Amino acid sequence: MRDIFDAIQRSAKRIKEAIDVKDIGYSQSENSSGETQLQLDIKCDMIIEEEFSSVLSVNTIASEEKEDAMKFRDDAPYYIAYDPLDGSSLIDVNLSVGSIFGIYKGGFDAKNMVASCYVVYGPRVEMVFAENKVKLYLLQAGDFEFVKEIHLGEKGKLNAPGGTQQNWQPYHKEMVDSFFKEGYRLRYSGGMVPDLHQILLKGGGLFSYPGTSDKPDGKLRKLFEVFPFAFIYQKAGGDAIDGANDLLTLKCAHVHDTSPCFFGSKYEISRVKDVYAGK
Ligand code: F6P
Repeated sequence: MRDIFDAIQRSAKRIKEAIDVKDIGYSQSENSSGETQLQLDIKCDMIIEEEFSSVLSVNTIASEEKEDAMKFRDDAPYYIAYDPLDGSSLIDVNLSVGSIFGIYKGGFDAKNMVASCYVVYGPRVEMVFAENKVKLYLLQAGDFEFVKEIHLGEKGKLNAPGGTQQNWQPYHKEMVDSFFKEGYRLRYSGGMVPDLHQILLKGGGLFSYPGTSDKPDGKLRKLFEVFPFAFIYQKAGGDAIDGANDLLTLKCAHVHDTSPCFFGSKYEISRVKDVYAGK
């Protein structure tokens, strides 16, 4: 695992440089989710592919920017799914973006997840790595320094409701409103990484991306976005569900499958469960 941790750190430093210096024009291509790829998305994908290709414990990678998984070697234990630059459309308005990594042993299945990690490129570059504990690192003078362990409180104060309101189910809208009536504050940038990072570091709250009338299975991708954050939130003492089930019990039939998802502290997630059970 140490070699993977090191490869992620090297990738993050190179991606930070790419964000700072490269142009951000659109390429001609679309990724598997139908989003137009930025030159920068492709560049970041290549950086990570290159770094993992030389790590002997990595069997296969799957990227949000590649149609299919890519095998490096048969006899290695780890399968890594990553989103090289999540929220990349926020770069041209200079908001924070991130890279997300899910590390699976023996195959891409949520029950095989053994570690996960994300990097936030904001005013500072921070990395959160979860194995048994959830640890925060800060990039300082060229190196990632350990800062602290992260623990979620039982109940938070922030509410990050994703998706287009027009397409929410009425019970979902009522639930989101009820959190605001309880005093929760709106915090939503449209970047999954900084939005979930904020809730984690401020002690708790709720991030939701529900199934909507136009996207019944939600928008966020299981392997690259949903499972890695579910792992991190659960290891930090919170919870992560699809409305009813623990996200890490879900199957993933295809590399780019999506799921409705809710991440938060225990209190908010039990409220979501109650609302969705009675819908
Ligand atoms: O998956 C890409 C992404 O940009 C996430 O980072 C973010 O949480 C989500 O889409 C935002 O989607 P929406 O604009 O529909 O709320």
